[in-house]
Amino acid sequence: MRLAAAATVLPLACVSVVLAAAHSDRDAIIEARQTSMKEMAEAAKTIAGMFDGKRAYDAAAFRAAAETIRARTGPALIAGFPSATLGAPSGAKPDIDPARAEFEALARHIETLARALASDAERAPPRITDDMRMGSGLAMGGGSLLGKRPGPAEADPASIPAEHLLHLILQDCSSCHSKFRQRVE
Ligand code: HEC
Repeated sequence: MRLAAAATVLPLACVSVVLAAAHSDRDAIIEARQTSMKEMAEAAKTIAGMFDGKRAYDAAAFRAAAETIRARTGPALIAGFPSATLGAPSGAKPDIDPARAEFEALARHIETLARALASDAERAPPRITDDMRMGSGLAMGGGSLLGKRPGPAEADPASIPAEHLLHLILQDCSSCHSKFRQRVE
């Protein structure tokens, strides 16, 4: 008799343990991606501040910040948004699921830019040089990046100056947020 009762109670107990674990996993995933996003925002602010002259330029801090963004984009970003974690109370729209291809393309596009920035930062000189500045990579007389593009293909990120890479990265942050992020109060 006692055994029978235990046999019915036990599975229920197991189910609630499993559910509780699933719930806290979900919360942990949401929290981790939000932390990761905040770290990227801080890193982008650090780099922008150096280029704007609001913060002293420091090659090591530039490297660390660029690496922070690189490591959190691409596959790491994609892995942070499993289907079961989308929607309220998180700021991730459920629409990410039906638009996976677009979401992942954005995550990979920003990673390509972040990789180029991180590789510039690896070789960062002790002072900001002109070739790191916005506009310095333009083809003579053509304005290939900011004005008319030479063709449909995008410019090779390796040839884009660091400051411009940062602007393109920030555009990708905004593109993804305007499409896939929701306000939750
Ligand atoms: C491919 C899509 C995508 C890209 C690219 C992206 N984000 Fe996000 N970001 C999101 C989504 C979705 C959320 C909502 C996450 C949540 O609340 O679970 C978010 C949330 C945030 C948050 C709020 C975190 C919090 O505490 O709730 C910040 C800050 C942020 N992103 C900064 C950035 C920055 C800076 C970049 C670029 C360097 C960036 N994001 C790139 C999709 C993206």
